[in-house]
Amino acid sequence: NNYCVIMAGGIGSRFWPMSTQKFPKQFHDILGTGRTMIQQTFDRISQIIPTENIYIITNREYVELTKQQLPEVPSENIVGEPAMKNTSACNLYMAKKIENVNPDANIIVMPADHLILKEKTFLEKVELALDITTKNDYLITLGITPTRPDTGYGYIQFIQEKNENYSKVKTFTEKPDLEIAKSFIESGDFLWNAGIFIWSAKSILASFKKFLPEMTNQFNTCEYNCEAEKECINTIYPTVSKISIDNGILEKANNVYVIPANLGWSDLGTWTSVYTNADKNDDNNAINSKNVLTYNSNGNVIRIKNQNKAAVIDGLKDYIIVDTEKALLICPRENDQLIKDYVLDLKNLK
Ligand code: GDD
Ligand code: MG
Repeated sequence: NNYCVIMAGGIGSRFWPMSTQKFPKQFHDILGTGRTMIQQTFDRISQIIPTENIYIITNREYVELTKQQLPEVPSENIVGEPAMKNTSACNLYMAKKIENVNPDANIIVMPADHLILKEKTFLEKVELALDITTKNDYLITLGITPTRPDTGYGYIQFIQEKNENYSKVKTFTEKPDLEIAKSFIESGDFLWNAGIFIWSAKSILASFKKFLPEMTNQFNTCEYNCEAEKECINTIYPTVSKISIDNGILEKANNVYVIPANLGWSDLGTWTSVYTNADKNDDNNAINSKNVLTYNSNGNVIRIKNQNKAAVIDGLKDYIIVDTEKALLICPRENDQLIKDYVLDLKNLK
């Protein structure tokens, strides 16, 4: 009865020029491990979920790319959305499809672009969560011990219970501002939402009905896993509201539970997080190609798409250097949040 949904519809513009709208980050081998982010996500979960129960939900633009990178997954499980509507719509869509196949389904929802170093712990926590959602009407998230007041995450305050390896969530705050994030970190009783969810199709559909009733009505007009599905989805998507599952459901529901998990987790959101997690040479440079020579340079993350192209870097410290056929980026690591803006400015050049 266990299924997995991999969400892979994001654009990853902070990873320009490696990540582009045509070829976003989840389809790249950002860490230089030989497998792309989405392939690593698939490899991880396919250890406990049969391939035929693994679904990918992405934009239609990326369906072919997904099929190429995951030839093992049945092509009907690679589902394309006609528009970017954030994560409520894609989760409702997948819950409807999976419930139609198996009304007793449990679903693990995972982003396609996270790094998890402690795979064994991750799989144990997921199995624990599946066991809980089989017996209870709970929405479960995995919680990470926070290390800084990052405003890009959801924060979870939980009710400490004795002798349990999971806890009831008291408050869920999606992407607080910096002051609030700081106070959460100082108080010490918050976890980050890892963005990995485990629930039964029944429980999540009941929550959608309660908190996003209009969206639920829209999706209820369609039939699933048949000829008519695609056309009906095309009809409803333009009018479906654009809201994340965190804001739409998790902040509001009172049956959310958290499993604290030490997973060696990173959401690899920036080049700096890639630098932190990638293999580095003796000079502390993270380089993906043998044809790069560095002198007096350290702390750099260097990604050269064409591995036959030689490069020499002299005198750079703590930089991001990314070279593709289309573009070249040279930027201090501390400015990695600005890359989104560079991409916008470049659009205005044209
Ligand atoms: N199919 C589909 N359609 N996937 C989408 C869409 C969409 O419209 N929008 C986003 N995704 C995918 C992204 O590719 C990513 O894998 C995942 O859904 C989460 O979306 P993000 O846009 O990366 O969310 P976030 O990082 O801002 O926030 C979420 O993750 C944090 C942890 O990394 C939240 O769940 C936070 O609470 C959480 O802390
Ligand atoms: Mg993310």
